Amino acid sequence: MNPYAWLVVLHVMSVVAFAGPVLVLALVADGVSAPASQRLVRIAGLGLLVILVTGVGAIALTGGALGELWWVRLSVLLFLVIGALTGRLRRALRSPGSRGAVRPLAWAITVALGAVVYLMEAKPF
Ligand code: HEM
Repeated sequence: MNPYAWLVVLHVMSVVAFAGPVLVLALVADGVSAPASQRLVRIAGLGLLVILVTGVGAIALTGGALGELWWVRLSVLLFLVIGALTGRLRRALRSPGSRGAVRPLAWAITVALGAVVYLMEAKPF
């Protein structure tokens, strides 16, 4: 395998590391203790960072050519939305009064993530 393929493998593994903890919070946030929730959202944050670094790295390896494609541009836009929602999720988990927002936020992130997976796999435009 070439470096590009390795980078994409790491990229997809980071997607899994991000999606898993968020899906746990979407499904059973009420059954997860506060420290465990903090750990889950920390792992998700780390996953998000590696998604960005490996995604940008893959684009750089193509000399920026992939950055010209609209499915990549739209994905980056959705990535920013996902990042903002993840920040809100982290804050909601910190404040006891916002616990009710955790599951809707985690579901919104999961849906946006599904849209990016579609764009990254189908490469429709
Ligand atoms: C949470 C957001 C993201 C998800 C869920 C995601 C998911 C994926 C998946 C599943 C693939 C494999 C596609 C395939 O099988 O060909 C992929 C590839 C890729 N992703 Fe992402 N990605 C995300 C964010 C990003 C970002 C922010 C960038 C760029 C800054 C990026 C750049 C790339 C590139 C360049 C590839 C390789 C495409 C190819 O070889 O055709 N991704 N991504």
